[in-house]
Amino acid sequence: MSMMLLLAASLYAQETTVIAIHPQDGKNVISKNIYGQFAEHLGTCIYGGLWVGENSSIPNTNGYRNDVLQALKDLKVPVLRWPGGCFADDYHWMDGIGPKENRPKLVNSNWGGTIEDNSFGTHEFLNLCEMIGCEPYISGNVGSGSVEELAKWVEYMTAEQGSPMAKLRKENGREKPWKVKYLGIGNESWGCGGSMRPEYYSDIYRRYATYCRNFNGNRLFKVASGASDYDYNWTEVLMQNIGRRMSGISLHYYTVSNWNRKGSATNFTNDDYYGTLGKCLEIEQVIKKHIAIMDKYDPEKRIALLVDEWGTWWDEEPGTIRGHLYQQNTMRDALVASLSLDVFHKYTERIKMANIAQIANVLQSMILTKEDKMVLTPTYHVFEMYKVHQEATFLPFDIKCAKIAVQEDRVVPLVSATASKDKDGVIHISLSNIDLQKAQTVELSLDNIKVKGCTGRILTSTNINDHNNFDHPNTVVPKAFNGAKVQNGKLTVTLPPKSIVALTIN
Ligand code: AHR
Repeated sequence: MSMMLLLAASLYAQETTVIAIHPQDGKNVISKNIYGQFAEHLGTCIYGGLWVGENSSIPNTNGYRNDVLQALKDLKVPVLRWPGGCFADDYHWMDGIGPKENRPKLVNSNWGGTIEDNSFGTHEFLNLCEMIGCEPYISGNVGSGSVEELAKWVEYMTAEQGSPMAKLRKENGREKPWKVKYLGIGNESWGCGGSMRPEYYSDIYRRYATYCRNFNGNRLFKVASGASDYDYNWTEVLMQNIGRRMSGISLHYYTVSNWNRKGSATNFTNDDYYGTLGKCLEIEQVIKKHIAIMDKYDPEKRIALLVDEWGTWWDEEPGTIRGHLYQQNTMRDALVASLSLDVFHKYTERIKMANIAQIANVLQSMILTKEDKMVLTPTYHVFEMYKVHQEATFLPFDIKCAKIAVQEDRVVPLVSATASKDKDGVIHISLSNIDLQKAQTVELSLDNIKVKGCTGRILTSTNINDHNNFDHPNTVVPKAFNGAKVQNGKLTVTLPPKSIVALTIN
């Protein structure tokens, strides 16, 4: 047993986890957009992951993979951010419209120098959103673009008729405008999006935002490029200088302990595992600090916080192309997903969107593809099990549970939870046990509501590094759960080690 685990075992002994849920106190609705996704022109996220082109032998509808389309529909994806990431500030949208054979190519300098042929552009993206029933979130080019270029893109996508850009759109085969609400004014403008200082970016934002107009009843929700992790000054300066000119401000937080030594996605020690969850949960402190700054300038909470990039970032899988950020996804990633979503739900009064990076074949993805094969990752299954929380009322609760000390002096609770009540009045509870060895007994009460029974599903695996691959796509999949018992209107749940359980209360 390592020093770390010895310390943990001796420090924090609490036999039973007690969760008291207070349904009457529920007031905040969990924004469905917390379940947002992110698709960048990076590696095989778009090409191969979502899009194979109309002439592919891989079964497709108008160029989109059928298997992926179905999986995304099943997930109830609410919003999809595109085209980057860092790629967004290198992207010139006019290169991605019109006949495909005329579209110019470019070198994707951020991501491995791959040649981008622009065959997936504005029409292909916005039509995809319509097909899977989600809202688009366009990330505009501020770093290497111009105000005119972004203003015209908005016009192209959303103007009804009469304008030059609406005319061009019609010539390219789309009569009606799309509905585009979310518009990012740059991405990581402090880094790959232009290396700006917050004071300078604030002015740039104001300038761009002025010319991105609302056409024909389409109302833009403009998102300022926000801070990374612990850069509280960035948030402070933007709140001070942009204020209500922005509808939202973003935050990027990746679960990486050491950027120079990220570690393998599948080959890790128990200490690495607990350390990862410690870093993952630190997002709560980071969010609280950014929110505290926002509260100072915007006590009515009219400006939203959008965690529009989050998730795990591991070493690229051996044998894959450098710069394509292709990584496997284990039960550890599933727990990072459930724990992060639990945190976002708690702060949903301010957090109105989150976009996990990324939807396919990149970082902590939902889906992995290889030619005509597709696997759903453990993270996908968490999003699917948790989708009941979308637009449900968050139910506050008190929790008492054992804690564990992990790397970098962090202390993390062994059990994490969310409780919500959906539009039909049904209560859903999700529980995660991060302990690798021990089951956790959880006693749940719901004030004056007497529980009659419940149904549930569980996601767990024999080993924490278990994952789904093209030969074994179903190693980590949800199964029926029968570890909950009802007695005197209260619920006792036995959570196996490293498990995620989703319960529906009767
Ligand atoms: O998601 C991968 C990259 O991470 C994005 O392009 C960038 O915004 C961030 O640094």
